[in-house]
Amino acid sequence: MSAMKERPEPESCVLVIFGASGDLTSRKLIPALYEMNQRGLLPKGLRVLGVSRTELSDDAYRDRLTPKAAEHAHSYEQSSWAEFAKRIHYHAADASEAGSIDGIHQRVRTLGDEGGISRSGGEPNTLFYLSVSPNLYEPIIDAIGASGWVAEGKRWCSLHPEQTAWQRIVVEKPFGHDVASAESLNRALGRVFEEDSVFRIDHYLGKELVQNILVMRFANAIFEPVWNSQSIQHVQVTAAESIGVGSRAGGFYDGAGAVRDMIQSHLLQVVAMVAMEPPSGYEGDAIMREKIRLFKTARLAHSAGGQPCAVLGRYGQGPDGPAYVDEQGVDPNKRTETYGAIQIGFDTWRWAGVPFFIRSGKRMASKVTEVVVQFKNPPVNLFGLPEDQMGASNRLVLAIAPNEELRLELRGKVPGLAFKIDSAALDLDYLKHFGGEAVEAYGPLLVDAMQGDRTLYKHRDEVELGWKLVQPVLDSEQVRGAIETYEPGSWGPKAADGMIASAINGGAWHNRA
Ligand code: BG6
Repeated sequence: MSAMKERPEPESCVLVIFGASGDLTSRKLIPALYEMNQRGLLPKGLRVLGVSRTELSDDAYRDRLTPKAAEHAHSYEQSSWAEFAKRIHYHAADASEAGSIDGIHQRVRTLGDEGGISRSGGEPNTLFYLSVSPNLYEPIIDAIGASGWVAEGKRWCSLHPEQTAWQRIVVEKPFGHDVASAESLNRALGRVFEEDSVFRIDHYLGKELVQNILVMRFANAIFEPVWNSQSIQHVQVTAAESIGVGSRAGGFYDGAGAVRDMIQSHLLQVVAMVAMEPPSGYEGDAIMREKIRLFKTARLAHSAGGQPCAVLGRYGQGPDGPAYVDEQGVDPNKRTETYGAIQIGFDTWRWAGVPFFIRSGKRMASKVTEVVVQFKNPPVNLFGLPEDQMGASNRLVLAIAPNEELRLELRGKVPGLAFKIDSAALDLDYLKHFGGEAVEAYGPLLVDAMQGDRTLYKHRDEVELGWKLVQPVLDSEQVRGAIETYEPGSWGPKAADGMIASAINGGAWHNRA
């Protein structure tokens, strides 16, 4: 869950999933809901209504979901699944057609009545979830708006808000394709929903260690004094995957690429957790405000020649599969990147002069997501040893995946008569140490939306500022023209090593096997 404090039970609602027959719904959303139900964390009156165009009965839809739930839910067990599945319903409609919304609305009201969760006017709370192709987002939002269903703007100022039903909407990524499309989507949402009712989801914010970055920084007193340009030389954020793009290439990926798919969305959020100022509280508004303030100071680094400091790459052929350009549905002339690396900075007193390097790639040497905070050397080398005999300087590694770990690398004297210095790591594996269990990120995020808690969601300004930051990379003919083919199973293009080495004397990526 997002907040550590005692939280009220999420309010009962009907969750309307547009894109009910899609992969995300069956692989992620339904298994995550089922897991939350197993833990007793769902509101008792929750009903799920899947909406897609194919004609299906409720039972036929449940039958389709069963094998995927069995495969993807950690704690799948037949009888509890059968019990949970009774809460799942189905309605066939093309939701982008304005005329279809009344039928969906009527079905939601019926489910609300049957479940005893209707509020005044026979209206249950409704959480919409856009799990459809992004080109359908705006038509569906417009159609919902035109139907007059959404009354949230009237609710927050009503005399009895607890008796009045709410309507909220969760929007999946990709949230836009560039600055203009993200702004347009935000405007479409704003015409129908209050900003507080819009939940722009990013499953990275549901990951334990991403939340843990704030706990590490603000529940301990020892980090904040050194968390600035005086002590930190640079920061790296890496999200490497060993798998290729595969069947997603034609349908989605070739129109997106690594900068849009991973950096603009997930990794800027991770950076925000590392770099933002302390919020005034652990709650949505306060955290969003600090992220926005930070993103307003963000700038993309440029070379002396005025080019964005960015490197793009695409994987070549290897033993595990074809080169990206030979994946089905790829247009090689688009020069879509499966690897992106950018250098950014923040014009704030805390971070002036500290480069942040962000990279993400497919078919890399291993699956690893981590933040590396590289500290400076002490101002004086007291021991008179050459730098290469001192071990690595202090480094804090926050590993997000596959394991959730915090590793602090410190220098120490090697025991013995000779005066030798080397570096060693203090390791904390969160799961091993604290116990607990791995949770699919979507489950807690969905429950947060049912609670109206946007702590782990994105404000419209964050999204737009994120796009503005990376847009020059996407637009640069020079950067795209230099796209490099990298060895699958490697750490990406050579030019990315050059980028970090030219920014930092002796700088190199932290490549963890
Ligand atoms: C998704 C991207 O949002 O995140 C995928 O579209 C990527 O391309 C995935 O593989 C990575 O998520 P995770 O949780 O496996 O790091």
